Amino acid sequence: MKKPLKMGHRGAKAYVIENTIESIEKALELGVDGIEVDVHKCASGELVVFHDFTLDRMTNGSGELGKYSLSELKALKVKQQFSIPTLEEVLAVVDKKCVMNIELKGRDTASRVCKVITNFIEEKGWKNEDFIISSFQHHELEDVYNINPNFRLGVLTKASVTDALEFAQTINAYAIHPNYALLSKGNVKLAQHEGYKVITWTVNDDESIKRMISYGVDAIISDNPDRL
Ligand code: G3P
Ligand code: CA
Repeated sequence: MKKPLKMGHRGAKAYVIENTIESIEKALELGVDGIEVDVHKCASGELVVFHDFTLDRMTNGSGELGKYSLSELKALKVKQQFSIPTLEEVLAVVDKKCVMNIELKGRDTASRVCKVITNFIEEKGWKNEDFIISSFQHHELEDVYNINPNFRLGVLTKASVTDALEFAQTINAYAIHPNYALLSKGNVKLAQHEGYKVITWTVNDDESIKRMISYGVDAIISDNPDRL
């Protein structure tokens, strides 16, 4: 049976607070093949790695992340001890040790993400295939495709594999990223037959991990990737 790639969700979310440098370091220590992080654009234009649209759940700040400048966000504490990293800071830590799956979570992140990736490819020795850019927001993926059709794109879905495959065609996507509850052996085979990788999330328990492996998925995103 094919071994799927193991990818850490928001770093290694089960072990260290999500989307922090420390969580990224933990994922690397666990020997992941890839790391998934979420990005938002802040008011001063930089990209920060953070999941929520608002600061309340994870930090001592409150309200919409997008209204704060980078220096204001840097002054906050994530769960009393960590800081919010920029995308560049995360990439510097990963330093080509594994694939980076950047999820365009916030609004209007496509062009800045393309700039950052291009810079890391041209100046820091990263390769195109070291990156996968995913999103639930189809227009953001279209924007990336229009900027650089060679970037690897992943169509996230929690609703329909069929719709994801239909959209994937229009942007020459590399992969579909369905929630694991949507998958069957049949639709995994179909997607792969159509030329797409299947990267599923967020699979944490042993039974579901085994089922996804038996379906032949290409990669599994997990809070505890070491379970794979
Ligand atoms: O990229 C897969 C997964 O991270 C999508 O859901 O809410 O964890 O960003 P969420
Ligand atoms: Ca995510």
